[in-house]
Amino acid sequence: MKTSIALIGFMGVGKTVVGKALARQLDKEFVELDALIERKAGKTIPAIFREDGETAFRELEIEITGEVSRKKNAVIACGGGVVLNQINIDRLRQENLVVCLTASPEIIIKRTSSRAGARPLLDVADKALKVAKLLKFREPFYRRAADITINTSNQSIGRVVAEIISQVEKHEDFH
Ligand code: S3P
Repeated sequence: MKTSIALIGFMGVGKTVVGKALARQLDKEFVELDALIERKAGKTIPAIFREDGETAFRELEIEITGEVSRKKNAVIACGGGVVLNQINIDRLRQENLVVCLTASPEIIIKRTSSRAGARPLLDVADKALKVAKLLKFREPFYRRAADITINTSNQSIGRVVAEIISQVEKHEDFH
């Protein structure tokens, strides 16, 4: 029986805000992979990318995903690139119901513009082009990893949370 939910999806789809609200509603622990990576590294994600490179970040992400994916009764917000390594998908799917949040490119660009520099992959001159390219490349990874997919474009946090709950309840192996 699975008791945890892993939220995956592109940057800016709302994994953190939805995850916190979902955890509160289901009375589960909220866990954010990126925060644990920052704690383990002793520096922020932009600093990890800048000083150690993306590969070092992905290695830390694999390590932390391995630890967190076994948690019971949790809602885990994953970083947008977690699906790029198959080992993460395997580990997440083994113990968690995997819910993928999506949003339109326009909404992603809007939502990721507030904290400039917080997302090193989008710290580029032509952000729209970068988002389009990454989305195209990653779309099959998200699709393969997800048990459930929910579009968050133009939906309130409450609506998204209610939709997730109604969908997960249909899964017999989730409690
Ligand atoms: C990344 C997404 C970020 C963070 C890192 C890399 C990605 O997390 O893990 O900047 O590759 O999509 P969010 O999806 O929470 O922004």
